[in-house]
Amino acid sequence: MNPLANKHIVLGVTGGIAAYKSAELVRRLREWGAEIKVIMTDGAQQFITPLTFQALSGNTVHKNIFDDEATMAMDHIELARWADLVLIAPTTADRMARMAHGLADDLLGTICLATTATIAIAPAMNRQMWQARATQANAGRLREYGVLILGPGEGVQACGEIGPGRMLEPQDIATRVRGLFVEPLLKGISVLITAGPTREAADPVRFLTNASSGKMGYEIARAAVELGASATLVSGPVALENPVGVHRIAVTSAAEMRDAVMMHLAEKNIFIAAAAVSDYRPTDYTEKKRKKGTASMELSLALNPDILAEVTAIPNHPFAVGFAAETHDLERNAQEKRHRKSLDMIAANHVGGPEIGFESDENALSVYWEGGGAEITKASKWQVAHRLLALVAQRYHEVEDL
Ligand code: C5P
Repeated sequence: MNPLANKHIVLGVTGGIAAYKSAELVRRLREWGAEIKVIMTDGAQQFITPLTFQALSGNTVHKNIFDDEATMAMDHIELARWADLVLIAPTTADRMARMAHGLADDLLGTICLATTATIAIAPAMNRQMWQARATQANAGRLREYGVLILGPGEGVQACGEIGPGRMLEPQDIATRVRGLFVEPLLKGISVLITAGPTREAADPVRFLTNASSGKMGYEIARAAVELGASATLVSGPVALENPVGVHRIAVTSAAEMRDAVMMHLAEKNIFIAAAAVSDYRPTDYTEKKRKKGTASMELSLALNPDILAEVTAIPNHPFAVGFAAETHDLERNAQEKRHRKSLDMIAANHVGGPEIGFESDENALSVYWEGGGAEITKASKWQVAHRLLALVAQRYHEVEDL
């Protein structure tokens, strides 16, 4: 598979510790057939040598405007014209600021101004630097200019802090780049997604909920937009940023989630229920905070609406995908759920282990549909979302064509 055959990518490498990861990025992009020309800033050369990129890209590395080998100092125009994509990874806060203001005091800066190709950046910096108002303003301005911002990811940083600012993994960047060139799988398709937990109040300050982080549903929404779909996300209470381009509707309880889904179901082609909806809610909500006093207390619960089952009970309902979190008998339980809820597809989570599932950034899924199935092996939730949507798109079109 050579999805990037004949594609020319100018890879700008700026001065961040993540620069070493860009060596792997070059390999990945070349595996898919892209031709790469690397530009390194002075800062980048403090972290990794040009020789590494020269060996991996198979091309001379460009360093500054007045390189000896540059033809009559026209390097920037040549490279700018040659590029189908200018990808800058890692992109420092300083580079974002320069780009946001159109500075052209080095080769990379001139190319960003001189090219008509798409520019994509993969920011990499300390979380405070990423969250700084100036950086966020620069990011907003760059988006307005049409620059694609890939990431950043969250997690442990080179400086030891935890938060947003890590460069995305090379594989993730490569997959996003591929998405820019390959016909989007879900072009013109409208997807409704539920995500996160729900909260079922017992009194004004107490509620029943579960440990769902919402990450899987959010990554599905993000991936759907990246694949050309319009995505509506009905989200329970989570601590996640709204993915760019996604229409998010925030809800709290299962009843609110149900109402929001029913209100937005019209004209949707695909419904993906990734939310961990509370099965029960307290029946006797008290307006006043419950007082402590007795040695024990009983809470009576009523069954919540099954949103997914309600959707599939509607005639001509959208293509319906459900999730099943199972600790054992995965296939049998998932298939049973698929039949019981009349689903077009079910994605079964392997839960129980510490490393995948609710809170984790990674996941693995077994996917089943009528007469078929597929395994999605452990990967970032964003990648898993892409692979799941590839299956959904294929199956959706097969069912539509029947
Ligand atoms: O029955 P169970 O909760 O295991 O089913 C899981 C699937 O059904 C998930 O896709 C979940 O989003 C959906 N669901 C729902 N409404 C409920 C319970 C589950 O939409 N009340």
